[in-house]
Amino acid sequence: MLRLNVKTQNKYDVYIGCDFDGLKIDLLGKKALIVTDTNVAPLYLQKVQGLFFGCFVSTKIIGAGESFKNFQTYTDILKSLCDLNFTKNDAIVALGGGVVGDICGFVASTYMRGICYYQMPTTLLSMVDSSVGGKTAIDFCGVKNLVGTFYQPTAVYINVSFLKTLDKLQLSSGIGEVVKYAFLMGNDISNLTLDNIDENLIYSLVNYKRQIVECDEHDNGLRHLLNLGHTIGHAYEAILNLPHGVCVLKGIDHVIDISQKFYGLSDLTVSKMKNLVNSFGILNQFNHHFLKASKTDLFDKIKVDKKAQGDKIDMVLLCDIGNAKIEKITLKSLGELL
Ligand code: GLY
Repeated sequence: MLRLNVKTQNKYDVYIGCDFDGLKIDLLGKKALIVTDTNVAPLYLQKVQGLFFGCFVSTKIIGAGESFKNFQTYTDILKSLCDLNFTKNDAIVALGGGVVGDICGFVASTYMRGICYYQMPTTLLSMVDSSVGGKTAIDFCGVKNLVGTFYQPTAVYINVSFLKTLDKLQLSSGIGEVVKYAFLMGNDISNLTLDNIDENLIYSLVNYKRQIVECDEHDNGLRHLLNLGHTIGHAYEAILNLPHGVCVLKGIDHVIDISQKFYGLSDLTVSKMKNLVNSFGILNQFNHHFLKASKTDLFDKIKVDKKAQGDKIDMVLLCDIGNAKIEKITLKSLGELL
């Protein structure tokens, strides 16, 4: 088993390739609510519940997908905690992908001004990105992650065997985030295939994220790097309702073009970047969808991005693979560079 200690204000461990014995010990004598969604529940809920035999475990199943990351689901989970008389000593276990993890974190951070929550990610995207770092949120008024908190989990338990049942779409979405990290870290993923994702890969990406989050827990500067491809990616996601990581990948594709214009990158550098963004053939596969979003549609969404400040926005641009920079640019210039 691999272990990483995240030294944020509240320190915690990320266990990779683990059984869940440590969590069982943590939960002894407490009440726990395992929250999962309608996709994960039939596959894993009974099994995971069985692991905590002897603990006071209840379960809550929420709708699957981004459209359920909303105020109604948030209050439904709060209501379950109230009905079960949860106290400050009790805990939530988030069994699922990014939506389950983000919403459970938000509930945990606000119920009684903060109770423990454990992340048990089941998708590639949540294993390599969203389960670590303490960003919690719900979508509100049509804006993704508009309402949320920074609230670190008590521990993260990553078991890659969950990936075996992931459908191709979800896996592609996770690969989008893996490719994002390859652009940021400059690590070689040329031997990576959809079938050989292992603990070592996840360890190296989470370790990179750990270092960034430790330097900038509350996302005031350096952590913006992790938003590579996200400004334009979120715009595609809002318009086309495609999986997050796939849209991030398309966002990075635009960032390469913008970076070429902004920094005057050589054709050789751009072609290396394009090869990386096109690895796994994901963009090709979704190209007919992306064509449906016009530049005007995209720009209209970018203008209301919550990262925009006044008429400016922080964009993560690429000088090279492994060399990303945060640039403050006006929305007007971004519109022209699109
Ligand atoms: N997913 C980006 C971050 O955690 O900052």
